Amino acid sequence: RAFLFVPGDDRRKIEKGAASGVDSAIMDCEDGVAASRKAEARVTIASALTDAANGALDFGRTEKLVRVNAFNTGMTADDLAAVLPASPDGIVLPKVESADDLQRIDELMRLSVRAPLNGETAGDDARPSIALIAIIESARGIMNLREIAACAESIPRLQALVFGAEDFAGDLGAIRTPAGHEIAYGRAALVVSAKAYGLQAVDMVYLKLDDADGLSAESRTARELGYTGKMAIHPKQIAPIQAAFTPTTAEIAAALRLIDAFDGYQAEGKGAFQLDGKMVDMPIIRAARAVMASARAAGLIDS
Ligand code: COA
Ligand code: MG
Repeated sequence: RAFLFVPGDDRRKIEKGAASGVDSAIMDCEDGVAASRKAEARVTIASALTDAANGALDFGRTEKLVRVNAFNTGMTADDLAAVLPASPDGIVLPKVESADDLQRIDELMRLSVRAPLNGETAGDDARPSIALIAIIESARGIMNLREIAACAESIPRLQALVFGAEDFAGDLGAIRTPAGHEIAYGRAALVVSAKAYGLQAVDMVYLKLDDADGLSAESRTARELGYTGKMAIHPKQIAPIQAAFTPTTAEIAAALRLIDAFDGYQAEGKGAFQLDGKMVDMPIIRAARAVMASARAAGLIDS
């Protein structure tokens, strides 16, 4: 649901992120880190990951991700070489514009992984232990969504696509508005492409740190569009985001009622029926099952 960006050169913020209860923390080497602090970020992230592995720093159930620098900086391979031996749960690659970018990073990840430390060996390609998440944030990236998302079929570690609205708008020369019509196409296209290939779709950051209502509304829209999560830039954004992507008790109750009714009608040999004056058939039941799946993923129900 929520992915918190944490500047990778700031040990204090990494510790805050570890203790924040966020679903995923993205320790950043890219745009959240000043050019003069890139080397510091690599070392700080690697040492935080090592501390997590030996018990000195407790991330709880928070997933530990690292955002490396984009290929056009020439820093990607060194970022990977510094952090992969410390076994992050996943790598986030920004400014992905083509399938080639993903093939390149997958190759680098396979080469620079130290098998004894993270249990990933050359023979383990089909079940890689370190995930890959791609940020799409340029006009070209949106144009090439089909080939990028299709990499899910050849690169098993690819798990999610992230929509980067600010860089995308900048690339378009668009003007950001509260309504967001300038990014609507890219935001909708990304979720369709991700879901076509079984990937998670993660929504853009919300820059207004003190506007919890606006953040909740934007998170709600993302969920309505089919997004499975959203990025956060401050710990206070975690709760509104995680709440928006967690089904409410009313939604869970409604889903259970639909599934119960459906099972009953199926037993009678009826595929479609009405409930509360509305037609119910398979797509509605699939949506109800998806609500139950998110409720389970959020730990709200057992089975
Ligand atoms: N991760 C972890 N902890 C964070 C945090 C983050 N992203 N943002 C703030 N905190 C911590 C601060 O360290 C502070 O804790 P402390 O007082 O115990 O040190 C507390 O939360 C309150 O922070 P606050 O004073 O409100 O914010 P700030 O001025 O320290 O930082 C930002 C504001 C925007 C610089 C900071 O939120 C940040 O770095 N966000 C991420 C930016 C980023 O990664 N951008 C690239 C991706 S788009
Ligand atoms: Mg960006």
